[in-house]
Amino acid sequence: MAEKVTVPEIVKMKRAGRKIAVLTAYDYSFARILDDAGIDILLVGDSVGSVVQGQESTLPVTLEEMIYHTRIVARGRKRALLVADMPFLSYQVSVEEAKRNAGRFLSEGGAEAVKVEGGVPVQKTIQAIVEMGIPVMGHVGLTPQSIHRFGGYKVQGKEKEAREKIMRDALAVEEGGAFSVVLEGIPLDLAQEITRRLSIPTIGIGAGMHCDGQVLVVHDMLGLFDAYTPKFVKQYADLKSIMADAVKRFITEVRDGSFPDDEHSFH
Ligand code: KIV
Repeated sequence: MAEKVTVPEIVKMKRAGRKIAVLTAYDYSFARILDDAGIDILLVGDSVGSVVQGQESTLPVTLEEMIYHTRIVARGRKRALLVADMPFLSYQVSVEEAKRNAGRFLSEGGAEAVKVEGGVPVQKTIQAIVEMGIPVMGHVGLTPQSIHRFGGYKVQGKEKEAREKIMRDALAVEEGGAFSVVLEGIPLDLAQEITRRLSIPTIGIGAGMHCDGQVLVVHDMLGLFDAYTPKFVKQYADLKSIMADAVKRFITEVRDGSFPDDEHSFH
């Protein structure tokens, strides 16, 4: 096994110009496959709400659900850094609550870091969590927990004022002590500017090729989720078709009596 990925290692990767590969995971089997394939960071995203639970947004995902998913991902992970998303309402109400909830991801979930959405408004929260010894990944730009404020999943930072706000958010995340920051749904030149100004790695999703790393939702890139496919998603496989084909063959063989055959039976 290659060496365990740690937070300092992720920070060093930016300085060394080595790109960081991140995918989401929500369970043991996926975590094992992604970890064995050499992924740097496994993110237990609150996108679990969309691709696993079938919810319309990430807002209904609870703290208990996120801790459960983190725990079962942790069992399948050996090498990758494990980051858990703090869900809506688990860090916005008070800094004290945020500290306790962040701690639960490490003590009960086996995570090594947590991710929070927002910039300037969560800077003090990031700082307080980091002071507890918990590494924090920030997330700015199109932050899905603020979907109702944006009025939909729209690219952010197109106008001058919005660009400046996102830059301020990214700087606030870094000043708060985060070790990295996700840049979601922003123009590639803005992501490039942020990546140049920050000393911590930027992890892009729908933010172009200039970020220090890239993250995708695993169900999107494997072709398992097609309720909607954003422009930035590259589908590396069509597992939905492969699965549907296998299931159809199983149904046929059960119905025509060719499964189970002698090879799959006990004597
Ligand atoms: O919830 C999630 O999966 C995320 C990533 C897409 C960054 O936040």
